[in-house]
Amino acid sequence: MTIRKLAAGNWKMNGLTADIAEVEKLARAHPTPSCDVLICPPATLIAPMAQAIGTSAVAVGGQDCHATDAGAHTGDISAAMLRDAGASHVILGHSERRTDHEETDAAVRIKAHAARASGLVSIVCIGETLAQREAGVTLDVVTSQMDGSLPDGCTAADTVVAYEPIWAIGTGKVATMDQIAEVHAAMRAALEARFGAAAADIRLLYGGSVKADNAEQIFAVPDVDGALVGGASLKAADFGAIVAALGAA
Ligand code: PGA
Repeated sequence: MTIRKLAAGNWKMNGLTADIAEVEKLARAHPTPSCDVLICPPATLIAPMAQAIGTSAVAVGGQDCHATDAGAHTGDISAAMLRDAGASHVILGHSERRTDHEETDAAVRIKAHAARASGLVSIVCIGETLAQREAGVTLDVVTSQMDGSLPDGCTAADTVVAYEPIWAIGTGKVATMDQIAEVHAAMRAALEARFGAAAADIRLLYGGSVKADNAEQIFAVPDVDGALVGGASLKAADFGAIVAALGAA
């Protein structure tokens, strides 16, 4: 089965209205990309970005959602609100949220339920710390995070899983191709063991210092179906090069 790959940009807490021009540029430069292209800007930019790029090939997503649809939760945003603003995807359980907001696997799992109920695709993030890698427990950590963070009944239509070694995020330090291959193979096996045939085409993204100059090498690794890109997704030229490398992979 061929999986249509996904280049996902995570803008984190970066971007003002003027930066929407970068995504318009990206959409113009890649009108018919050979992979799916997604930008997850801060919540303030979801609606104007979705409007600005209209029916282009670039999709827009959120970076987190609350587990319930509405209510007394000051400062939170629900999956239904993201959808209403024009988002089709939401990143869940990013390591920065797990650290900054003490999000647990169980919390991520109920958010993924809420996202599915609102028709959003969840990009569920997992990844080990440097201490865990050095202790030799990486595969145990990532499979247990997947087990705890993914709701039952996941399919490719509602779920993407992103492997982001925490020590590789924003550090310029990329995992080796062998390390990526080993983890992605374990992720695929765990998905198939839990979800059966439905898991065969769930996309597995690598994230952590993906740039134009290492993208081609990373995309050649088996079971890498795309990338979750932080810093290099902010500028159309940088992210466009990654989109092109993924489309050619
Ligand atoms: P980075 O971030 O590409 O800047 O390392 C990746 C991420 O956190 O999703």
